[in-house]
Amino acid sequence: MKINTAEFIVSNSEVDKCPKERLPEYAFIGRSNVGKSSLINMLTNHKNLAKTSSKPGKTQLINHFKINNNWFLVDLPGYGYARVSKKTKAVFQQFITDYFERREQLICAFVLIDIRLEAQKIDLEFMEYLGESEIPFAIIFTKADKIGKTKVASHVAAYKKQMLANNWTEMPQYFITSSLEATGRDAILEYIDQINED
Ligand code: GTP
Ligand code: MG
Repeated sequence: MKINTAEFIVSNSEVDKCPKERLPEYAFIGRSNVGKSSLINMLTNHKNLAKTSSKPGKTQLINHFKINNNWFLVDLPGYGYARVSKKTKAVFQQFITDYFERREQLICAFVLIDIRLEAQKIDLEFMEYLGESEIPFAIIFTKADKIGKTKVASHVAAYKKQMLANNWTEMPQYFITSSLEATGRDAILEYIDQINED
């Protein structure tokens, strides 16, 4: 899919204030600093459409970006940043759970996972929550440039093993990406395109 236009529409902390249009949307979620905003810039081929930072906690609101006048990419705040309560439940800010529970336009969530790390409890819990809520999701492994190309397969295999050990019967659809090298761009855009056409 070719991206012709990508425009920032609105930032807010309330799901009721999100755009009213009934366009399909795809949301990016994951731990703070995993690379959600960078991935949105990479996919849309814009340097600064979504704001990024080397410090965790940059994105604080729900941000809607309209693509090709036809669908939305949604940048969300990260979870798991230690400023919030230690209790895992409180780590998912209420407006983020509201978004996932009430946003009817949400077609698919992309859960971003840093490819360098072992499976983290907070990500496994979040995916379990999505599964229980029957929200379709796919995994995006980020920062693949930080490990050697030969290590990618073994990291993914280790992750898969952890998913299966956590009651998943199969590994969800996944993508390997590097925002630095634009790896995985075509595969993700193709995936979104396919869903939009169905
Ligand atoms: P929050 O908004 O704080 O939740 O973070 P985020 O998930 O949006 O992360 P962001 O895109 O702001 O990126 C965090 C840091 O990781 C920045 O310093 C990025 O440059 C870096 N980063 C993101 N993606 C990649 C990548 O694919 N490769 C490398 N090497 N660095 C990356
Ligand atoms: Mg961000």
